[in-house]
Amino acid sequence: MSTTLELMAVEADSCTLCGLAADRSSVVFGAGHPEADLMFVGEGPGAEENRLGIPFVGRSGKLLDRLLDEELGIDRGSCYITNVVKCRPPDNRDPRPDEIAACRPYLERQILAVNPSVVVTLGNFSSRLLLETDTGITKLRGQAYPYGDRQLVPTFHPAAALRGGANVLAGMRSDLAQAKMLMGQA
Ligand code: URA
Repeated sequence: MSTTLELMAVEADSCTLCGLAADRSSVVFGAGHPEADLMFVGEGPGAEENRLGIPFVGRSGKLLDRLLDEELGIDRGSCYITNVVKCRPPDNRDPRPDEIAACRPYLERQILAVNPSVVVTLGNFSSRLLLETDTGITKLRGQAYPYGDRQLVPTFHPAAALRGGANVLAGMRSDLAQAKMLMGQA
């Protein structure tokens, strides 16, 4: 990790800015290459992530790893992976607006520190937050959006592909192919 990310992770480790601090086992800050050209932003840690302190290590993570390999030819060590909220919402409920707002500065600082040219948002929460919209992921996805001097590619959350089957998975594959193309252009 870069010094900046390390310092932020240490800061987040003792964070009590929202109620999620009360029930967490780990703060799941982020993982991967500290200067990655590609960054993924999910929703929030699940049970396995909370246990291990690493993002996307459960079933959704396994699918993400497979798509990274098959569509981008990379593994998770070549990109940076984080979430909108860094602590697990109890019983995997949706993160609440106050929790998202409290955690937002961490995400924004992570994006500045890693400085990727392409940010892929996984699912509604990260896509709506970073694009500052109420539009849902099904409508948003399929195109790239300018995000400062970066490109943002919204796609489905891997959990939706695990639930939703072939069409969702095909959409994710095509969005990741677009992210790969955009990285090539940067
Ligand atoms: N789902 C997420 O959004 N993030 C994780 O880290 C794991 C599952």
